[in-house]
Amino acid sequence: MDSLNFSPVNAQSPIGIFDSGIGGLTVAAAVARKLPAERILYYGDTAHLPYGEKSPTALRSYAEGITDFLVSEGCKAVVIACNSASAVATASVKKRVGKSVPVIDVISPTAHYAGLKYGRGKIGVIATKATVNSRIYARRIGKYAPDAKVTMLATPLLVAMIEEGFFNNNISKAVIASYLDRANLRDIDALILGCTHFPLIKSEIRMHCAQRTEVIDSAEMIADRTAEALGKRGLLRGNAAGKAKPEHRFYVSDLTPSFSESTKIFFGKKLKLQQRNLWA
Ligand code: DGL
Repeated sequence: MDSLNFSPVNAQSPIGIFDSGIGGLTVAAAVARKLPAERILYYGDTAHLPYGEKSPTALRSYAEGITDFLVSEGCKAVVIACNSASAVATASVKKRVGKSVPVIDVISPTAHYAGLKYGRGKIGVIATKATVNSRIYARRIGKYAPDAKVTMLATPLLVAMIEEGFFNNNISKAVIASYLDRANLRDIDALILGCTHFPLIKSEIRMHCAQRTEVIDSAEMIADRTAEALGKRGLLRGNAAGKAKPEHRFYVSDLTPSFSESTKIFFGKKLKLQQRNLWA
């Protein structure tokens, strides 16, 4: 593999965020809310999605390629805004960048939170096949809560359903019910939404779950972790007050009108996507 081309970073540098597609925009939106002065450089690898169906080897290679791009563009942090990539590629991304920039994955903060809070409880996780097969949540939660019972369910249909705009309707209600009523998700104390698409159906999931079940999504926690990591290195851009609105850039490896349309659902407003295929 070629050596990494690092650009020097400072507080003005952008925060790099990547996902398999546009679902990671839920994390980008949380980062933008938490750190309104920061510039974001987002990369959605739409040419290779769904990551949830790919092998760990393929995911590591995609994640490393995107990391090289973000770092060569001068990003001061790399946020892996995808559970499937976080599950199998965090270690290789960290190895690739060394100590030059912090790497924030979407799994550690939620696992830490749930492990500390539900040490002897039963924690459910819904995620893609890649994330479930990695058993990463059970391992990470087990570090903080060896006595917790962690049960995981792959729910790939939820991803496709959300991408097609089916939520807050009878179809999404039926699909959510058919997954969450499975025996291994019964009587859980907490349910981790282990996919960056799922914050969009959080309220529907909450309505379906028992009242005592806490529904946990990672977007806000990732934003907090990112702020913390940059703060420690003195790399925060400071308060938005008095500053021009930060310019964000949003790239995808394959651009179609439907991705552009869907940005509104995930980011809260329609974004201008630019095509940049790192594998062309
Ligand atoms: N972003 C992926 C995740 O969080 C879900 C979509 C996909 O499978 O590519 O796991």
